[in-house]
Amino acid sequence: MTGRFITFEGIDGAGKSTHIEPAAARLRGVGRSVTVTREPGGTELAESLRKAILHTPMDGITETLLVFAARRDHIGRIIAPALARGEVVLCDRFTDATFAYQGFGRGQDLALLDRLEAAVQQGLQPDLTLWFDLDPEVAAQRRAAARAADRFEAEDLAFFERVRAGYVARMNAAAHRFVRVDASLDRREVERRVVEALNAHVGG
Ligand code: TYD
Repeated sequence: MTGRFITFEGIDGAGKSTHIEPAAARLRGVGRSVTVTREPGGTELAESLRKAILHTPMDGITETLLVFAARRDHIGRIIAPALARGEVVLCDRFTDATFAYQGFGRGQDLALLDRLEAAVQQGLQPDLTLWFDLDPEVAAQRRAAARAADRFEAEDLAFFERVRAGYVARMNAAAHRFVRVDASLDRREVERRVVEALNAHVGG
């Protein structure tokens, strides 16, 4: 069996995290071994970097380097070994988030992100990216009901408009691996579409 690398993306409040565990359960139900993980995070080092990235004030280049440092550790210790064992890896965010948040959101140089992506990933790319797309205004309302904001969630509407534009740009550049899921639909319909995409890309 070949490993499959599947990422879940979208602006904060789009609801992507809700759909990862049900997707994992479904894949396990049809006999696949599944690793569920997240970025920034997934290893001891990357989780400690996550705390800093989400809560410690820092400039945009520092933030970008820490995100990629966390990713490098995560790929080496968790993602690549799981794929080599033939598992399905479900990852809550990956490099599309860096282009969307650091690149489009914070205005970091996209050419620098391209170079870091190439150096850190050595060609590794998701096989499938489920992009949960939601109007930033609706996402902000959902977030307001949910929890205390971190450094990203506290950003204004214009920031999330830029982040969304970043996801659109990434999808246009790699349409073969992207599936856009309309996250404004009710939860069961979103879940149905996630299952449909998984069936098409991973098989039953
Ligand atoms: P998120 O995945 O939304 O987790 P939670 O549901 O626990 O809030 O939070 C991670 C945050 O990190 C999110 O606001 C986006 C940000 N982020 C980046 O800015 N760049 C990245 O490369 C990644 C992976 C995440």
